[in-house]
Formats: sequence, structure tokens, C-alpha cells
Amino acid sequence: MIDKERLTTILDSTHKRDKTEKLEAFSKILDPKLKTVVESIFPTPVYRAIMDREFTKEELDFVNNEKNKCTKNQGNINTKDNYILNREEFKNIKSFLNECCKDYLEKIICPKYNTKLNITQSWLNYTEKDQYHHQHAHPNSVVSGVLYFNGDKQDKILLHSTKGYEPIIVEKEKFNQWNSATWWFPAEIGELIMFPSSTFHQVEVKQGETTRISLSFNSFYKGALGSDIGLTGLII
Ligand SMILES: [Fe+2]
Repeated sequence: MIDKERLTTILDSTHKRDKTEKLEAFSKILDPKLKTVVESIFPTPVYRAIMDREFTKEELDFVNNEKNKCTKNQGNINTKDNYILNREEFKNIKSFLNECCKDYLEKIICPKYNTKLNITQSWLNYTEKDQYHHQHAHPNSVVSGVLYFNGDKQDKILLHSTKGYEPIIVEKEKFNQWNSATWWFPAEIGELIMFPSSTFHQVEVKQGETTRISLSFNSFYKGALGSDIGLTGLII
């Protein structure tokens, strides 16, 4: 079972603004006096889940050991093994992530036919103080996820709006989901965050002495997509 107290704490720290602003930012803006409402359409889903247990010693030893078998990325390092969820030591973690992919598919994508969302590549990232993870997205993937193994309290992931170039900039008094070009979430140990792979994201220069360790993965559809009658039929 998920630790409900921890879930509440994490969901309460959902973003950087205060609680009142958070309520406005994550739901409709209702104004009973004016009898108006601001709705949101076509939002970007950000799926967050929490491991229902601590990491085992075997998993943590494995994660720490793989740090010696890395390749250099732009601002940090990642494992040479980029199918790391196939390793025996990650068997249970892979089951948890598969469960979350299934849940994401059922809750957000809602396929009509027999479509699955399978994990493809997966790797570990290690970021030390003063290092960073450059801004990027994940091509050839539908949904990407990050699970946090280690880090400091202030560690976070920064996501960028999919709107692209903003031709007009207005200075903001306060931020909400309609006027922000970026949004961040805390990188809590044991927490998983999943989002569409086309969403650009990054880790800013790391503060704090603890090595930030995360597992990233990509996914792709397996099964029936589209519709034959709509000439979008595709079975993969
Ligand atoms: Fe990434």
C-alpha cells in the first residue's frame, strides 16, 4: 500500500508557489462574484507515482556500482548499459514501472483497441554538485519517465512548455499554468515522474553535496493504433 501520509506531503509540495496559487494553477479559476470560470484545454499530463517501499540494499548497491561503468553526457554521466531495466537487480523496479505505464495508458491515453505501452531503453544518470543535465527531449518514445534513487532536498526537474517560441512576453506578477513557460517538480527519492517524451526537460546546475541518481526510461506502443477506416491503421 502507498504510504498515504507521504503521498499527501509530496502532492502538497507539487510546485514552487504558495498553496492558494497552487489551487488556482492546478484547477479552474472560479470567480463566484463575477460568475466566471477559466477552463484549461489540451494540458500536458505529468504523471507522478511513489514507490510503495524503500529501495533494497541490493538495488542501491547495484545503482552505486554502475556508477563505475558510465559514459560522459554533456553535463553529467550516464550508464553505458542503456537497457538497464533488463538487469536482474531491477526486476521488481521494472514491474513497478510497467504497472505505472499501464496506468498512464489507461488513465490518459485510453486506447480503444488492444494497445500496450512497453518500456524500451532505460539508463541511470549521476549528477554531482555543479553538474547539470542539459535540456533535451526523448525522440522515438511516447512517454518517458524518471525514478529518483538519491539526491538532495532541493533537487528538481524543470519541464518546458510545448508551445515553443513565445512572440510576446509580458512580465508576470505571479505564475500559473497558462502564463508559465517552465514548471518544476521536486525530485523526491522513490518518486516517479512520467510525461510525454516530446516535452523538453532539464536539471539545472546541481546544488548540494549528495549525488543525484535517477533512472530514465523511454516507451513505445505495441499493438493496434489508429483505425483502418480512418486510414490511420497501424499494428506494430
Ligand atoms: Fe530526459
